Amino acid sequence: MLAAIGLSACLSCESGEKTQHHVDTDSGKKGPTAEITNSVDGQAVFEDKCKVCHGKDGGAERLGAADLTVSTLDHAAIVAVIKTGRKKMPEFASKLSAEEIEAVAKYVRTLRK
Ligand code: HEC
Repeated sequence: MLAAIGLSACLSCESGEKTQHHVDTDSGKKGPTAEITNSVDGQAVFEDKCKVCHGKDGGAERLGAADLTVSTLDHAAIVAVIKTGRKKMPEFASKLSAEEIEAVAKYVRTLRK
């Protein structure tokens, strides 16, 4: 209700009440930002959560991390490792959404040589 009024006010006038418009613009951003989670950037997730051990290209083996460039796991197995963790690798089921896990699992396979 409020958002609808704000939006139509924004569309119908260009000048005046700058502060009011600024608030409308910010709240309007919630739509597009929320949609981004529907198409998660697997690379961004990897660089945020996995790079620390696996390295940017997946080939680093910090803390005994598996070399992802030579990994032969299929998608389901990668998803399982990410969800439950293995040895020094922590589980990510409680830290990433299902979509993020799917996206980063896909990205992991692109790291293969
Ligand atoms: C704290 C360090 C650490 C982090 C962070 C980490 N890993 Fe790992 N990862 C490991 C270790 C250690 C292993 C090897 C486990 C073993 O030897 O069984 C591993 C193994 C794997 C494997 C199995 C590869 C294979 O062929 O057996 C995959 C896939 C993987 N990690 C993906 C990821 C992804 C994706 C992320 C980020 C969401 C991630 N890892 C974050 C340490 C880490």
